[in-house]
Amino acid sequence: MKNIKIIVNMNFGLESVVKRELLDLGYEKLEVSDGQIKFDGNLRDIAILNLRLRSAERVFIEIASFEALSFEELFDNVYAIDWEDIISEEGNFIVQGRSAKSKLFSVSDCQRITEKAIIKKLQRTYKIDYFEKSKERYKLEVILYKDVARILLDTSGSGLHKRGYRAASYKAPISETLAAGLIQLSFWNDSRVFWDPFCGSGTLAIEAAMIGKNIAPGLSRKFDFEEFIFMDKEIMKEEKVKCYQEIDYDKELEIYGTDISRQAIEIAKSNAEILGLENDIKFFVKDIRDLDLAGDYGVIVTNPPYGVRIGGDDLAELEKELGKLYKENPTWSLFAISADEKFEKNFGKKSNRNRKLYNGRIKTYYYQYHGPMPK
Ligand SMILES: C[S@@+](CC[C@H](N)C(=O)[O-])C[C@H]1O[C@@H](n2cnc3c(N)ncnc32)[C@H](O)[C@@H]1O
Repeated sequence: MKNIKIIVNMNFGLESVVKRELLDLGYEKLEVSDGQIKFDGNLRDIAILNLRLRSAERVFIEIASFEALSFEELFDNVYAIDWEDIISEEGNFIVQGRSAKSKLFSVSDCQRITEKAIIKKLQRTYKIDYFEKSKERYKLEVILYKDVARILLDTSGSGLHKRGYRAASYKAPISETLAAGLIQLSFWNDSRVFWDPFCGSGTLAIEAAMIGKNIAPGLSRKFDFEEFIFMDKEIMKEEKVKCYQEIDYDKELEIYGTDISRQAIEIAKSNAEILGLENDIKFFVKDIRDLDLAGDYGVIVTNPPYGVRIGGDDLAELEKELGKLYKENPTWSLFAISADEKFEKNFGKKSNRNRKLYNGRIKTYYYQYHGPMPK
């Protein structure tokens, strides 16, 4: 497996953010489509991408792609793959599936046939009847779209939003990958003040601090690919060392996270501590109605409560408070994600830009209020 096809997927709406991340990492010839980006790479790239991508969900290797109009065609093409080079005798391989606009529409049959072909092929090498599947995991996907089958291997395992720092969370936390995407879509950079006035478990503030200090998001967790038999273990070690060397430990940041809930602030603080960021983020209890922002030209990136009533406060009232805060701080920019279509009305101002984003399956809007650029 020298030259491989790599696919990274992401929440709908974050394609341009992940594309920018990939270009910044030096990747080229990116084929972008809804929710995914495909490009050529090698096994080292699997380590680099899992460690460094902030807004993508998973990194896959495309093992094969072929036309499949019948189950025989599906079986034969899967059987033709050199599975013994990919899966060990005790490897725990799992086949999941999806099908759309294809003759082979029964997902369970596609999964069953794919698994059968893999087993038959592995039996040729391993000469066993029963696979115990007791060791490293290989999550495979058979995806049929317009009669083309693709076989993907998930190298991440758990989704990339699992960074390893959110030991605890408080009410409706935002996903870490989406939070990183929102920050990268905002005007914030590490020389400006960052503030999340509804910080909950601290995700947005922590992601901003990780960006500011150049901490690779995957450094504190494990990935499935680390155990794959075809993966050279040295690669991950080397790539981790590079990530550690690039951390800007001395970078001074001005990042605030405030919330009305004491419990949320305790959780946010302990999450930041896991990454050693406790001195880089100021978390404290504050009702948005009493908030005084520190400094000029700061950037608010936030995920206000949505749901009809939260903690006794009316959603409309909190959005109005946010609008007031923006009005009272004319040099600040504000970016808020919400599923509430009446957000702008309650906020009291139409946004400069509004972007549709999917938070998993929930349709949300990213309302963007542009303040002046710092002088
Ligand atoms: C959707 S949650 C934010 C989740 C957060 N982004 C995270 O990742 O955990 C909204 C937060 O707003 C807080 N909140 C509700 N009313 C508030 C108020 N009046 N002032 C400040 N925070 C408030 C809640 O305690 C809750 O933590």
